[in-house]
Amino acid sequence: MKQQPKIIIAIDGYSSTGKSSFAKLIAEKLDYIHLDSGALYRAMTLYGLRKGAIGGGKIDEAALVALLPELEVSQRPDTFIFDENVEGLIRQMEVSSYVSPVSAIAAVRAFVDDNLHKMASGGGVVMDGRDIGTTVFPNAELKIFMQADDLVRAMRRYREMDDPGTTFIDVLHNLRDRDQRDSTREISPLRKADDAIVLDNTCMTMEDEIEWLVNLLNDKYGFSL
Ligand code: DC
Repeated sequence: MKQQPKIIIAIDGYSSTGKSSFAKLIAEKLDYIHLDSGALYRAMTLYGLRKGAIGGGKIDEAALVALLPELEVSQRPDTFIFDENVEGLIRQMEVSSYVSPVSAIAAVRAFVDDNLHKMASGGGVVMDGRDIGTTVFPNAELKIFMQADDLVRAMRRYREMDDPGTTFIDVLHNLRDRDQRDSTREISPLRKADDAIVLDNTCMTMEDEIEWLVNLLNDKYGFSL
């Protein structure tokens, strides 16, 4: 394959729009690194639950922030806490139900942003999240904002879950709740960057999305895919 330009591709959007799966496929196609910023917030949340800073419907913000200096999270590409692969554990409902308020804490955001900048220092990165194009990499060469109907998103997430105690309605409520919290929080709320391109995949397959992106990269960014 011809050497492709090494740009930063920022993919933001609502929960369960398939950002991470899309970003992962693009990274494979371009031989880029894929960084899933939501997974880092989830790993933080799991660690807080384990250490007792989160639980019983409450978050002890001071206790959680005090854990940050000792915590090592990485993506290899699965998400690790120290040397433990937690990729499966961070997708469980208990983590999902706390992750939005955890991600609204300023010190947590600073910790994740710092890690993302370190991991992306070599360029050639596809990064997905909520504030990548607006806050983490405001100069990213390509910004994509993903959206889809919320019933379609909830069904996608429900189908990929391996959690017999969780119903479709639980998933839908959690998703709507997170959309609301993520878009209205004070620090780095979810919003489309002015220069982001919208990708609404309600009626698209992953193959359609990849074809859309390949055309965009070839036509506007000088790739030859
Ligand atoms: O993409 P996800 O559902 O795995 O993200 C989990 C949570 O993390 C989501 O509710 C919002 C938060 N998040 C964020 O605030 N900023 C990001 N860049 C990525 C995720």
